[in-house]
Amino acid sequence: MAEKRVKRIGVLTSGGDAPGMNPAVRAVVRTAINNGLECIGIRRGWSGLINNDFLPLNAPSVSHIINKGGTMLYTARSKEFMDHAGREKALATCKLLGLDGIVAIGGDGTFRGALALSRQAAEVGMDLQVVGIPATIDNDINCSHYTLGFDTACNTAIECIDKLRDTMQSHERCSVVEVMGRHAGYLALYVGIAVGATAVLIPERELDFERDVVEKIRRARLAGTTHYMIVVAEGVGSAVDIANRIHEEVGIDPRVTVLGHIQRGGSPSARDRETASRLGHTAVMSLLENQGNRIIAVQDGHIVALDMEEALNMKKSFQMDRYKILEELSLTKPPMF
Ligand code: F6P
Repeated sequence: MAEKRVKRIGVLTSGGDAPGMNPAVRAVVRTAINNGLECIGIRRGWSGLINNDFLPLNAPSVSHIINKGGTMLYTARSKEFMDHAGREKALATCKLLGLDGIVAIGGDGTFRGALALSRQAAEVGMDLQVVGIPATIDNDINCSHYTLGFDTACNTAIECIDKLRDTMQSHERCSVVEVMGRHAGYLALYVGIAVGATAVLIPERELDFERDVVEKIRRARLAGTTHYMIVVAEGVGSAVDIANRIHEEVGIDPRVTVLGHIQRGGSPSARDRETASRLGHTAVMSLLENQGNRIIAVQDGHIVALDMEEALNMKKSFQMDRYKILEELSLTKPPMF
């Protein structure tokens, strides 16, 4: 093993919160303490580094958070940190605190900020190693097949939609449900498969309203269905607009539900707790082995430490095979007998 360098690390959560952030913080802190490192919690993401907003953490500080949604460290999106001057202030805090490593838990923007900080540190002769842990309910980080919070958010959306289905079925109605995913349709697709949606609209597939909505409702009706569940990813557009168009083109009167931020809350699922624990542990081990500037990702079920710059340039092809399965399984063909 390489010579141990890192002595004191910071941990922060940044960007949109996700269930699993707390278990990841816990894993980082406990692994650090158990390996002789000191650990400082930076509050409110990168803005905490700019504003000296921190707290020392020890093993008991992270007791009883593994089951909690949200993040005990708070989170924020910092505009100031995007500028050189903002990062200069952040580096001054790192110096003050004696930080030589940072574990940043969040999404793509969080990691780009981390890399910029580490590079700026190098320019002034500071050795600041950063490691990222992917966490966003959108599952849209290219280098990782899984991001913390996705599973819990899927389960939350499924629970809500199952309830909606009860009332839609009773009244023989059409439900248009908007799920989160500003740029990505993973949540909509997985949830759509899991609730047996009539149609799922995702930003990765150009919308053909006749093919993707009207025809599916007509076929479902021909197959004997009297209620319809249309799942719309936020990135496609407003569920209200989709419902209005269904009203105009199919002649039915859909009800709209926007699930919104409820999808970001709740106790993390088993998958999110377990994955967060492994990611957090590997992140600190990576720093201990002088493997900084890494993103700790999930690839084919394995935890891997990727070079941060390479990881941020990776492309991920959308899972269109799942979209085909969704279509194949939905009741949009007339019964044969
Ligand atoms: O966490 C990701 C995400 O949920 C997106 O799907 C959504 O568009 C966005 O965050 C909204 O976040 P906020 O309301 O915090 O700006």
